[in-house]
Amino acid sequence: MNKKIGITEVVLRDGNQSLLSTRLKLDDILPIASKLDDVGYTSIESWGGAIFDSCVRYLDEDPWERLRELKKAMPKTNQQMLLRGQNLVGYKHYSDEIVSKFIEKSAINGIDIFRIFDALNDLRNIKHSVEEVKKYDKHAQGTIAYTISPVHTLDTWIDLAKEIEDLQCDSLCIKDMSGILSPEFAYELISKLKKELSIPIHLHTHATTGMSNLTNMKAIEAGVDNIDTSISSMSMGYGHSATETMIYLLEEKKINVDINLKDLLKISEYFKVVREKYKEFEGSMKGVDLQMLVNQVPGGMLSNLETQLKNLGKEDLLEEVVSEIYEVRKDVGFVPLVTPASQIIGAQALSNIVNKRYETLSIEIIDLILGYYGKLPGDINTDLLEKALEQKTNIKERPADFLTEKFEDYKVNLKQYCEKLKIDDLSSIEENILTFILIPYGSEKIFKMMSS
Ligand code: CO
Repeated sequence: MNKKIGITEVVLRDGNQSLLSTRLKLDDILPIASKLDDVGYTSIESWGGAIFDSCVRYLDEDPWERLRELKKAMPKTNQQMLLRGQNLVGYKHYSDEIVSKFIEKSAINGIDIFRIFDALNDLRNIKHSVEEVKKYDKHAQGTIAYTISPVHTLDTWIDLAKEIEDLQCDSLCIKDMSGILSPEFAYELISKLKKELSIPIHLHTHATTGMSNLTNMKAIEAGVDNIDTSISSMSMGYGHSATETMIYLLEEKKINVDINLKDLLKISEYFKVVREKYKEFEGSMKGVDLQMLVNQVPGGMLSNLETQLKNLGKEDLLEEVVSEIYEVRKDVGFVPLVTPASQIIGAQALSNIVNKRYETLSIEIIDLILGYYGKLPGDINTDLLEKALEQKTNIKERPADFLTEKFEDYKVNLKQYCEKLKIDDLSSIEENILTFILIPYGSEKIFKMMSS
């Protein structure tokens, strides 16, 4: 008997994020939740990443309430979230105290598996989160943000994976957000990792370049323990391999997944109808985009960029901006294009094209260059470094060591904010304080809603 392969269903988080710009409302999830819960997935990725932000800023939903509702509606299945290490679900580092509080509340409200990554693969930025997750007896999954560049080799990934295991993570995830992990390299990497590590290995890849089914299958041949898939009607494109396709392929190989293909058909039908409602949030890419193999721009980033350019009335600049992203990325030491680095680099590339190259530097890119996000994988363009050093000094220490912000202070701030808005005092609920910390400018609307 072949070993069992775990399946993580990502439709509610990453499928939603990659295909529908994270606009899927809770009301469109709840009617299908019990069916999802019955499938027998290893886990369902349902929270984290851009969900928190989207709930507050676009969906008028309390993200914590959403989590509780999801957990209640799917009590049998592990709920999984994507956590950006010290950035939590935001775009900058938070102090250890705030990280601790966020993880405590996420665990209490329903998260079982925390997939934790750092955009720069600087493990100093995930260590505290991992320790906190383990305090609540939850599953801490340490993550490699996979990328291709002259400074990233097979050994880079093996060393990183070993360090992740040394952090006492319960499993390792290879996170290929751009769909650029080729079947051959996946086989080589995972075969080697299986020899070197004793913790389970999960693969997260995207369908963007068209390789994902093959990459998943080669990963399984090499001994991967779990793959991520999305229900067929919400799969492929910028998203992921279809759950049904992968299960069919696995069954043919006599690999046990304990999931009945027929159970998935109704779920797929459901999302097919729901997806129609969110048409306006879909990117224009159809089929496969090989450009990703050249520029390594992840799906979510590209669809956001399209929207930004559309708003500026400059859709025609898309190609230019995409190739500028490569240049900016090279200049900052080939960071993986994942949040928040992807936003920082995307915004700088856009500015470089609309204005002149590096005519204006964003605060964020200055911080990135000077070590405030962590250690960069490769060398920084010396001219760019000099330009950034005109603004402030660089650091070598763990960025969060400089952060002293206190949770209690935000409680006071929220109390004052509520007074200013003339709404009930919401600061007695710690989840609200976290929302206020993470989305300071966007939370007015949901706070007003919660008060009434
Ligand atoms: Co992803």
